[in-house]
Amino acid sequence: MLAHELRVLGYTHLSTENGRVSFQGPASAIAECNLWLRTADRVLITMARFPAHDFEELFQGTLAVQWEEHLPLNANMHVLGKSVKSKLHSVPACQSIVKKAIVEAMKRKHRRNRFEESGAEYRIEVSLLKDIATITMDTSGHGLHKRGYRREAGNAPLKETLAAGLVLLSRWRQDSPLADPLCGSGTIPIEAAMIGRNRAPGLRRDFAAEKWPTLPAHIWSDAREQAKAAERGDRFTVLASDIDEKVLRVARQNARAAGVQDLIRFEQKEIAQFHSHGKKGFIICNPPYGERMGEDPQVVEEVCRALGTVYSGLDDWSLFALSAYPHFERLIGRKADRRRKLYNGNILCYYYQYRR
Ligand SMILES: C[S@@+](CC[C@H](N)C(=O)[O-])C[C@H]1O[C@@H](n2cnc3c(N)ncnc32)[C@H](O)[C@@H]1O
Repeated sequence: MLAHELRVLGYTHLSTENGRVSFQGPASAIAECNLWLRTADRVLITMARFPAHDFEELFQGTLAVQWEEHLPLNANMHVLGKSVKSKLHSVPACQSIVKKAIVEAMKRKHRRNRFEESGAEYRIEVSLLKDIATITMDTSGHGLHKRGYRREAGNAPLKETLAAGLVLLSRWRQDSPLADPLCGSGTIPIEAAMIGRNRAPGLRRDFAAEKWPTLPAHIWSDAREQAKAAERGDRFTVLASDIDEKVLRVARQNARAAGVQDLIRFEQKEIAQFHSHGKKGFIICNPPYGERMGEDPQVVEEVCRALGTVYSGLDDWSLFALSAYPHFERLIGRKADRRRKLYNGNILCYYYQYRR
């Protein structure tokens, strides 16, 4: 999904691995990707990738980067690390070697011994996988799921990035209604409304690299201007309902903070009462989880059965549901056309897709 998003933004020659998509782009890509990517966690700059079987190789590989071009004299550096299936398995030791090498590179270039780390924050990560070190700089700061609209959450809120991914995977078109009858704090309807409007998800927040003096400031103002101009005024129908009045209040508040309250019709409603006269609609939801929230499995089963009954009454609608419940298809009453394995945090879920 992320690779697809990048292609839509015009980036080609993507290399897709498990958990990350890499590509080359100009400095402006840093601003554009932070503002626009709906399903990415972070935008990182790859500074170096090299074999590192011992500390000397790690030190020399890090030293070889032209750090002075990327870090100001007063950079406030945090070095993080991780190591998987590698000889260098002590993460704190790797972090400290990398920091030492960066400081050494800066000392040589600037001919001074001390640096005050009082300036902008630079999060640098050394990640070792099978003895290959990758050094990255994090341009995002807070994870990109933090769009800036969620003041409060319901009981088991979806991450905004995952909710956006669910909507994008459904290939919802704005001439069809979209409904989440188990909307909780409203993450799916809010993300859908932002997609429907072509609103850049990062417009209401800032990013770590915006404070970096090493990047031209105009890349951010240009990208923000372009994003504002790209917003469309289309009308479409997004319905959001939940049985719980309290959580709906939170959902309305989040929608207001996201600036999409006018685009979503909120209603307190039991799932069994859901109906719509709209044609070719999309239900996108994530039913209660059961054990994770200490919910009674019987109640969870009832909700899923009710969802199945509601769906069978909606002739030409499609249903997309993210569930961790093992017997979801049996409860809905039919086999999904497609199941996608997805993780919600560390909970293994399936995204059940019923298309019409
Ligand atoms: C897993 S949560 C949904 C979380 C939501 N996607 C979010 O991001 O906040 C499931 C929701 O189903 C609602 N729910 C449970 N039983 C229901 C019922 N019978 N009718 C309607 N909503 C119900 C709960 O109140 C809860 O908000």
